[in-house]
Amino acid sequence: MTAPDDPDPAAAAAELASLAAEIARHNALYHAQDAPEISDADYDALVRRNAELEAAFPDLVRADSPSRLIGAAPSGHLAKVAHARPMLSLDNAFSDEEVAEFVARVRRFLSLPESEPVALTAEPKIDGLSCSLRYEEGVLVQALTRGDGQTGENVTANVATIGDIPQRIEDAPAVFEIRGEVYMDKADFAALNARLLAEAVDPEKARQFANPRNAAAGSLRQKDAAITAARPLRFLAHGWGEASAVPGDTQAAVMAAIAGWGVPVSDRLTRVDDVADALAQYRAIEAARADLPFDIDGVVYKLDRLDWQRRLGQVGRAPRWAIAHKFPAQKAQTTLRAIDIQVGRTGKLTPVARLEPVTVGGVVVTNATLHNADEIGRLNVWPGDRVILQRAGDVIPQIVENLSRDEARGAWPFPAACPECGSAAEREIGEVDIRCTGGLICPAQRVERLRHFASRHALDIEGLGITNVESFFRDGLIQSPADIFRLTKETLLARERWAEVSAGNLIDAIDAKRAPPLDRFLFALGIRHVGEITARDLARRYVSMRGLAVMIRHALAIRRRTAPAPAETDRKFEIRRQKAVVAALDTPGIGPEVAEAILDFAAEAHNRAVVFDLLRQVAPQDVVHETRASPVTGKTVVFTGRLETLSRDEAKAQADALGAKVASAVSGKTDLVVVGADAGAKRRKAEELGITVIDEAGWADIVARAH
Ligand code: IVH
Repeated sequence: MTAPDDPDPAAAAAELASLAAEIARHNALYHAQDAPEISDADYDALVRRNAELEAAFPDLVRADSPSRLIGAAPSGHLAKVAHARPMLSLDNAFSDEEVAEFVARVRRFLSLPESEPVALTAEPKIDGLSCSLRYEEGVLVQALTRGDGQTGENVTANVATIGDIPQRIEDAPAVFEIRGEVYMDKADFAALNARLLAEAVDPEKARQFANPRNAAAGSLRQKDAAITAARPLRFLAHGWGEASAVPGDTQAAVMAAIAGWGVPVSDRLTRVDDVADALAQYRAIEAARADLPFDIDGVVYKLDRLDWQRRLGQVGRAPRWAIAHKFPAQKAQTTLRAIDIQVGRTGKLTPVARLEPVTVGGVVVTNATLHNADEIGRLNVWPGDRVILQRAGDVIPQIVENLSRDEARGAWPFPAACPECGSAAEREIGEVDIRCTGGLICPAQRVERLRHFASRHALDIEGLGITNVESFFRDGLIQSPADIFRLTKETLLARERWAEVSAGNLIDAIDAKRAPPLDRFLFALGIRHVGEITARDLARRYVSMRGLAVMIRHALAIRRRTAPAPAETDRKFEIRRQKAVVAALDTPGIGPEVAEAILDFAAEAHNRAVVFDLLRQVAPQDVVHETRASPVTGKTVVFTGRLETLSRDEAKAQADALGAKVASAVSGKTDLVVVGADAGAKRRKAEELGITVIDEAGWADIVARAH
């Protein structure tokens, strides 16, 4: 393990906080919205940095550390349910040696003599999302996604629409949870994207999934199961969770029993006798990969004997008795035709590699990201070079090697000026990105911001996609977001290709967005680092535009007034100031980087003018904390004792959602006391006062019945 660059604990704490927020954001983009913004490799780099810092500063490991989570916490809209047994993850092996080492570890752990064979099962690792199907008395009663491994989302209704999954199984134990992968075939994925495009009112805004895995996740995790029903999802079992009885002594036998119940199991699942056999199976599956109807990203080996599996147990969140042998990323050779520079909404200049078209893993690739100037330097790439391209189930292909490397040429000269507006392009201290300094005089940034403002996750103005935004901007019709709301039907009709109906539709679509939800409004402003999650956190915390404005004025004053103390180093001062700023924003999930970005935006007079102008046209809606009608709405509830199925925070959140107030002490004002294990004084007091006392199951019942 390499030592972290920065040995200062305060800086490490700040970095860990921002990594936690950043990783959580990417988890949400990947798992909850199925819209990843960064490649798996970049994501892994963040996780690695987090692990590095945590290893160097064990005292600084946060309660919300990404290292404690598997995947992402479940998204907001489906009900969360605790798994009867945690859903585990897998450790990875990337080479034959690592597979041999895995088996050697198993032997050491079990003290097996060399003469004792260690049989494994080998099966494809399907690139889908894992799901746990709970059968009671042979009837499918619940289906949960993995979620964070401890708690998943209830997708029972959605799973009922998947043809591969039987509603009933014969001769199964009283309780049996079948676990496996929900996935989409490659051909079905392509057809789905084509259908979504064909059906879209505005093709520019058509929902398109990046890969079959995202399509499967997005299709399964729908509040409306009718949408899931219209999506071609499939299922393959790969294991089990809680079981009142296990039908066999080996992995292979139990999987055969599951197949016997009519639940699909991979037809490539085989039993292998040793490492050599396992590796032969790996090569066979790898050779068949391209011809399989679905995406796989490796081979999973599991110890066949279940008594050994039980003895081995797990370490962290992964079993010691299984490992995923991953396939190397798919690669191809091609020629770099040109390096184009794109200017983003925040002025970031991103170099994009234009490539001679080439097929990598079944997909024709013509562009690859080069990330930033450092990456160009690292690869020493120049237009005309032969390069090796890699696609690793990723969204964006990467150039991993330059075959024409020639250090004598030096680095390709990254433009010193913005290609769109000619303003200086500069790198901020400590940053890798180079940005256009033109701000809102840069047409590319302005168009990007306007496009972002109207885009699907922001104000979602139907019919105002990139083409219209660009042409309206070019002709001076819209310069800032407020101008959108000043467009009239007459102005549109005076333009080519606009008619009564189309002009009327666009004006109606714009008018429909004059009272946007506060979080969408904030996200639409395009403040650097303020993504959907941060916008939602801010909106929830401050409820109204007025509440936010008061907080921001206060935070700006604090930032201005924080001055260096005598003999304080720059770094210490910077950390103290950042802490003060974060405290002033006082919003869970918002760390120094985001807090500073919000204040930088607000400190800029031009931005304030844009926002005030906009607020003359639109009135963001205050956040109404949604409550569900229930017998406890408006009542005061006290939780006491140790809750078994819920954390205190979850119990509080549930009470909030039902419109109940949570108090810590029992008094005459208390309406209901929920007691967990070992409840003492509060329970007695409640009984003395004649207050209703219920147990955890009673509370769960109230929650389940609320609507
Ligand atoms: S076994 C306790 N087998 O890969 C072991 N997992 O990276 C749990 N996956 O969470 C999983 N194909 O969602 C297993 N044949 C397979 C699999 C498989 C895909 C997924 C599964 C797991 C993830 C771990």
